[in-house]
Amino acid sequence: MKMIVPERQWVLATGGAGYIGSHVVVELVAAGFGVVILDNFENASPDVLTRLARITGFDIPVVRGDVRDKSKVAETLMRYGIDIVIHLAGKKSVGESVSGPLDYYNANVGGGIAVLEAMRETGVGKLVFSSSATVYKAGGAGTLDENAPVGPSNPYGRTKAMLEEIITDTVASRGLTRAISLRYFNPAGAHHSGLIGENPTAKPNNLFPFIAQTAAGLHPKVLIFGDDYPTPDGTGVRDYIHVVDLARGHVAAVEHLVANAATADHLRVNLGTGAGYSVRAAVAAFSGACGFDVPFEVVARRPGDIAICVADPGRAKQLLGWTAKLSFEQMCADQWAFHRTCEDHNTDRLVVSG
Ligand code: WQD
Repeated sequence: MKMIVPERQWVLATGGAGYIGSHVVVELVAAGFGVVILDNFENASPDVLTRLARITGFDIPVVRGDVRDKSKVAETLMRYGIDIVIHLAGKKSVGESVSGPLDYYNANVGGGIAVLEAMRETGVGKLVFSSSATVYKAGGAGTLDENAPVGPSNPYGRTKAMLEEIITDTVASRGLTRAISLRYFNPAGAHHSGLIGENPTAKPNNLFPFIAQTAAGLHPKVLIFGDDYPTPDGTGVRDYIHVVDLARGHVAAVEHLVANAATADHLRVNLGTGAGYSVRAAVAAFSGACGFDVPFEVVARRPGDIAICVADPGRAKQLLGWTAKLSFEQMCADQWAFHRTCEDHNTDRLVVSG
């Protein structure tokens, strides 16, 4: 297998072996960037590396390590001549953050600070940060633009909001040249090859992998958490975005940083489609993708859930020239194809979930 000889800059993807990260790596390589993965493989399977080689045609350089190890990050930045960092490494379960907040502050805030310190020490000045729509204050009417009030309601969201502020202060102090924080809405789906996707070995917290595993026979039914929300069919409405569209949003952010390298600022940008789908609609669409009715039962609301969370994606279009292109049905089809590949390869459920 070939080593990458990029025509463009070198990018370090922390957490690049995870669910989002692996898709970002594929799109960066396709766009001509060199990519290095730094990952501790706490939430990703080494198997994803051979799958990335099959998809990209290249052996992606990989450094096994934890972003909290500042010297390891700095050494990696220097060894590969990194120009830009995409910081994806971190923990991402809302529920887990409530039961174990210190682990989340340590991993997400502590890890982020270590990455920023390593960048400052090595003079790497451009950062894309994996933030989240969970930074927004719950209960807003309509779609959320980047000026919507910030007010996370759980430790996971607070770690993301805190790191955004830390990045702003670091840019202001010239410790970073410029940064873009990408506020993800609800990632779903998988690469069309069926080789990479999200299929947690533990019981999934998120809806899409749970529906897919139920369709694959791993759970008896999907539990719909409440149908008494103020929404058209009473179930929760979210802005699901295909993980490949999300990955392409990262490439657009990197290209924006490269093209405007002299401007010192920290932009917040939503990555969403602007369209909301309910839980019932997700179960119905997935049933269409797999060709049979996925069983479900309506149960009590999940504590902390909100009724509606949908993006206003206007800034991404205006500033980055990016819009989501892949449909809700495509997310279902690609997620199902990925699960079929996992079953066909009889792999231990590929842990690629970041
Ligand atoms: C979606 C909808 C549930 C599971 C998560 C995390 C975080 C963030 C966005 C990046 C809700 C309902 C779910 C189930 C259900 N990503 N549901 N049965 O809670 O919107 O946010 O994704 O930062 O990862 O905050 O996503 O997939 O858990 O829930 O009825 O078994 O599906 O009530 O309405 P959520 P989710």
